Amino acid sequence: MSRTYVVTGAASGIGKATAELLVERGHRVIGVDLRGSDVNVDLATEQGRSGLVTQVAERSGGTIDAIIANAGIATPTAATVAVNYFGTVATLTGLRPLLAGSAAPRAVATASMASLYPPDDALLEALLAGDEAAAMARGAELEAAGGDLANLIYGTTKRALALWIRRNAATPDWAGAGIPLNAIAPGVVATPMTSAYTDTEQAREAILQMVPMPLNGIFQPRDVAYLLAWLTSEENAHLCGQVVFIDGGSDAVIRGDSTW
Ligand SMILES: NC(=O)c1ccc[n+]([C@@H]2O[C@H](COP(=O)([O-])OP(=O)(O)OC[C@H]3O[C@@H](n4cnc5c(N)ncnc54)[C@H](O)[C@@H]3O)[C@@H](O)[C@H]2O)c1
Repeated sequence: MSRTYVVTGAASGIGKATAELLVERGHRVIGVDLRGSDVNVDLATEQGRSGLVTQVAERSGGTIDAIIANAGIATPTAATVAVNYFGTVATLTGLRPLLAGSAAPRAVATASMASLYPPDDALLEALLAGDEAAAMARGAELEAAGGDLANLIYGTTKRALALWIRRNAATPDWAGAGIPLNAIAPGVVATPMTSAYTDTEQAREAILQMVPMPLNGIFQPRDVAYLLAWLTSEENAHLCGQVVFIDGGSDAVIRGDSTW
């Protein structure tokens, strides 16, 4: 049966591949991005986040079947805090009421295997407190410090996002409303975001030292799209608060026995 999906970050990479796959399968996709999509908004801003909800409500007629909150950036800047955490949480919470009319509502967010790396504790605390002003201030400090400190921003936003999913999935708003809420944590996927790490053999070898992926190495956005499509399909009725690592094995290598 045809379903209506909202996909953020639909103009490029994983979001684009997911939107294409869903359309091929006969579904309706409302794409969201900064530009070049059905709904063009900046999820880093309050205005963009409320515009998202208004425009998706208008386009959908008030009911959607699934949210794929996937938009993100990977720059070592405070902007990454606004998009990856607050933009994604606002997408999920803002669009959740539109799932109420669906017979099989689903939601998923794109985190990252980078969530496994040590976070910046002060930024993580501000994110988990939902304090955007404090998180942006800490993000700006890390950005100004540059180097290794600025590089903590991305993984910290993805750690916080994965924890937000864990903390919210089993609550009345989500599980209680019959909505499976989960996340994915990709390894290195060949998209415009990672082109600097995947374009040359030398770069690929270097990134695979940091992100060990013994199963089939660097992969394509379409490979991730299959998982996002399944997690938001009618077939997935019982996965709750899971962070599914689609990472060629980096989680198994890095965390080993410490989780299961
Ligand atoms: N590529 C990888 O290796 C990889 C690995 C792990 C996680 N991820 C995550 O996957 C998601 C998709 O990344 P991708 O690799 O497809 O990157 P991409 O750069 O190809 O696509 C990201 C899309 O998000 C959009 N976007 C960015 N900021 C936005 C904003 N403020 N408002 C609205 N849209 C915005 C961009 O315009 C772009 O179209 C991101 O959340 C990223 O962090 C990617």
